[in-house]
Amino acid sequence: MGRHIHSEDVVDSTQKVAHRLVFEGASEGTIIIAEEQLSGRGRMDRKWHSPKYTGIWMSVILRPNLPPAKAPQLTLITAVAVVQAIEEMTGMTPEIKWPNDILLNGKKVTGILTEMQADADRIQSIIIGIGINVNQQLEDYPEELRPIATSLAIEYGKKLERAELIKVLLVKLEKLYSLYLDQGFYPIKLLWESYAISIGKNITARTITGSISGQALGITDDGVLMIEDSHGIVHHVYSADIELEK
Ligand code: BTN
Repeated sequence: MGRHIHSEDVVDSTQKVAHRLVFEGASEGTIIIAEEQLSGRGRMDRKWHSPKYTGIWMSVILRPNLPPAKAPQLTLITAVAVVQAIEEMTGMTPEIKWPNDILLNGKKVTGILTEMQADADRIQSIIIGIGINVNQQLEDYPEELRPIATSLAIEYGKKLERAELIKVLLVKLEKLYSLYLDQGFYPIKLLWESYAISIGKNITARTITGSISGQALGITDDGVLMIEDSHGIVHHVYSADIELEK
């Protein structure tokens, strides 16, 4: 992981650069990092605020020899790697909100966006975008993000060396990815569940086709969220925004 690192100053989006590199044949483990993104993007076509020198805006290219249905597992592996890296750097243990939000004190510190190119039965490449809010102060955020976003510096009380965090993160990611390729998803699933806040709680999942409310039972071996509604019906949710009931 990280044997080829493309370090950029300003880009539209590291995802966009990664798509171009994939097209040009970039190898597994290629990393794209930028100091600033002008059009950083999040899930569901949202913008990702990516100001200069404050965060880690990075995309990782993987080329696992797996069927497309396994792609969500790679997002979950990445979430565990980010949690472990933050833990090692700060001693704080973030929580994961399915599928890919990493929270400190209930506010988002990291988002992960996974984009895949695949044919019917094989993944060709997968681009995992990781946005970590590292050294922003609250006043650096636009007004509307202040109630929901945070940074490591805000929660930890001091700034962190971004290069060090990147190094630690790549080591964690490499280890977890090798563990996954050797032993499958089960050991990762256990780790992921130990950091997840939503499991066992009552939640509402908003999908593009509507909302499902009920108890989050856990994730399947493919990383799909299972919710049991009040009639005892178990729904499998592949993509949604979830809200914890208070
Ligand atoms: C989300 O929570 O909606 C996912 C946010 C992902 C942001 C990262 S920053 C690096 C990479 N490049 C992008 O444009 N987006 C991802």
